[in-house]
Amino acid sequence: MGLMTKLILGIETSCDETAAAVVGEDLVIRSNVVSSQIRWHRRFGGVVPEIASRKHLENINWIVDKALDEAGVTFADLSALAVTQGPGLIGALLVGLAAAKALAYAHGLPLIGVNHLVAHIWSARLENPDLKPPFLALVISGGHTSLIEVKRDFYCLKGETLDDAAGEAFDKVAKFLGLGYPGGPLIEKEAAKGNPQAVNFPRAFLLKEKKNEFNFSFSGLKTAVVYYVKKEGRERIKIKDVCASFQSALFEVVVKKTLALARELGYKEIVVVGGVAVNQTLRAMMSKEAGTKFKLYFPSAILCTDNAAMVAAAGFEKLQRREFLSLEAEPSANLDLNS
Ligand code: KG4
Ligand code: ZN
Repeated sequence: MGLMTKLILGIETSCDETAAAVVGEDLVIRSNVVSSQIRWHRRFGGVVPEIASRKHLENINWIVDKALDEAGVTFADLSALAVTQGPGLIGALLVGLAAAKALAYAHGLPLIGVNHLVAHIWSARLENPDLKPPFLALVISGGHTSLIEVKRDFYCLKGETLDDAAGEAFDKVAKFLGLGYPGGPLIEKEAAKGNPQAVNFPRAFLLKEKKNEFNFSFSGLKTAVVYYVKKEGRERIKIKDVCASFQSALFEVVVKKTLALARELGYKEIVVVGGVAVNQTLRAMMSKEAGTKFKLYFPSAILCTDNAAMVAAAGFEKLQRREFLSLEAEPSANLDLNS
């Protein structure tokens, strides 16, 4: 095809989305195919690892073909393959990595292993190619709530959840309230009609003295919602008010800690990524608190939730440094940020 820019095919299977995408070195997305397994997991109220692996296996080949077709390229046009190596569900990761290894071997392409959190961080660059380290990142999703300092050549974890991830808390509260799965969008929809001051749910700020000031804890908030509903009685409570109050309690902690850390470390640029970053109330609260002192980056919804364009974008960093994976590489459920 005589393409001028290098192209990477990204593959993502760390949780319940099977995804493949072709991205150029110019960070222009040539294709971005995401197949959600939500309908298979919905009746269980959460992701079932065994089902996730099986569905990835059924879908991975046609998703890869579709990503190449939509980009109008073949394997011969690619410079490398990038695949999520971890963290995530081990069986789910295994399917994507095995597929990527086989394709890399068959087509003689270098293989790049990408950390899923790092991929989420680089999703912000797809719409802002000029974004450059150092900056602060908040990865807020179903699996993580992490504050990460992004330096020029390494990542430093500054805070994380000690129990449930933010998205996990949304999903569990939604399940308890009988709203369905996944809970984030359903709670956001109910909350839009409710009063965030109706119930004063606890905010867990954790202590500086215990070196915990930038960590999070959301399981107490989830339990407080359960106690409140049981005490008041399901027929007496207003679901919309419970949702609005839960959401604002959770986000108040997230917003305050993120901005406090940015101030402490002296960062003016903050990227907010991951599935929960789709939430409009989070975006509004963060923007209000940040005022004009900080520049915030919120990727489009399709790039916040799991996708492979972000995996390919993160892959370019390693392509430049020629950091490739061997065909013996294995996935890791808790892969190190700097691996
Ligand atoms: O990033 P993601 O697609 O997968 C993980 O890596 O976890 O995030 C999925 C999570 C789910 O917990 C879902 O409930 C949450 O993101 N989520 C939301 C919203 N949309 C998705 N949470 C709050 N508000 C939303 N609008
Ligand atoms: Zn994710």
